[in-house]
Amino acid sequence: MSILVTGGAGFIGSNFVLDWLAQSDELVINLDKLTYAGNLQNLATLADDARHVFVQGDFGDAALVAKLLLQYQPRAVVNFAAESHVDRSIHGPGEFIQTNIVGTFNLLEAVRAYWGALAAEARAGFRLLHVSTDEVYGSLAHTEPAFTETHRYEPNSPYSASKAASDHLVRAYHHTYGLPVLTTNCSNNYGPFHFPEKLIPLMIVNAQAGKALPVYGDGQQIRDWLYVKDHCSAIRRVLEAGQVGEVYNVGGWNEKPNLDIVQIVCALLDELKPRADGQPYQTQITYVTDRPGHDRRYAIDARKIEQELGWKPAETFESGIRKTVQWYLDHPDWVANVQSGGYRDWVVKHYGN
Ligand code: NAD
Ligand code: TYD
Repeated sequence: MSILVTGGAGFIGSNFVLDWLAQSDELVINLDKLTYAGNLQNLATLADDARHVFVQGDFGDAALVAKLLLQYQPRAVVNFAAESHVDRSIHGPGEFIQTNIVGTFNLLEAVRAYWGALAAEARAGFRLLHVSTDEVYGSLAHTEPAFTETHRYEPNSPYSASKAASDHLVRAYHHTYGLPVLTTNCSNNYGPFHFPEKLIPLMIVNAQAGKALPVYGDGQQIRDWLYVKDHCSAIRRVLEAGQVGEVYNVGGWNEKPNLDIVQIVCALLDELKPRADGQPYQTQITYVTDRPGHDRRYAIDARKIEQELGWKPAETFESGIRKTVQWYLDHPDWVANVQSGGYRDWVVKHYGN
């Protein structure tokens, strides 16, 4: 038995592969293009592990995907591959359209052909799980209830619009062709291997480097935060027991304004690695121009996955963020390697010098 994972060298994908193989001996075929966000270092502990087959390639290359499907006959495909950073999608949306929409379409075509040719039993057991985001639902006012699975789609950034389009394609392949799909829409993740262009790792890394901690606008935008390992356990649970064709929202019941997040990270660093001059890290907070079209609030209603599949997050935000800050303190080499690559160019382009 095996599963095919796309984008398994990225932040969530690599955590998923590591967790999967920590709990099962089922072979993982990991197809990743290794864009700036893909980092094989995340999977270094699997370098000599025969249960992990890494293939560098494009999940939108239908011929390559068809070949891998035929060769390994996986019982499931878990699709993480995407361009994932909202700010990059604002600077250059084209790659998001190509990867998130066209890439997902090509993947669906290859999977449909493979699934259609399977013997009855394998066909009945096969699943394609599409990993998506709460951002497809748009922005909430403070008084509005959290997103349920039936909330209307109102994406506001090229990133969220491209993910919304991919969700619609996945849905359509179920309704039209009967492809056995599952979709998860998750809130903001944080944890080990998070690329330091995103809020939490950027703050941890910049703080230690004595750099500014750039808070967009007034810092009062609200996100729901989930520890990445909890997202991985939710995906495993949906793959195992989710109803074909259904959507499951995944969240941490943990809404916080960005400024609070930055202050919590600063306080943990004050405790775990105080500044040499004794000053608190939050003196490095700098308010910068807001993100265009910045969504004000995301909130996930995760009752469906809890009630129907019995999934709940294991970490509180307090325990998860402490583990995360400690992980970055314990892995300076990982951070240094990431920073010596394309990351630096991006920082200059986006924030200037
Ligand atoms: P990431 O940017 O860290 O990783 C994306 C991975 O996909 C990288 O390894 C990259 O090399 C790979 N990739 C990109 N284009 C590819 C292609 N054409 N073919 C094969 N591989 C390709 O992203 P992430 O944060 O790990 O997110 C993974 C998935 O989860 C995405 O679909 C994202 O939309 C979704 N998601 C992310 C979050 C979050 O907070 N990070 C929350 C909810 C949902
Ligand atoms: P981010 O980590 O990019 O995730 P997303 O945009 O997918 O939610 O950003 C999280 C929040 O933090 C978002 O409201 C934008 C804000 N933010 C900052 O204030 N400063 C920053 O430097 C970054 C990267 C994000």
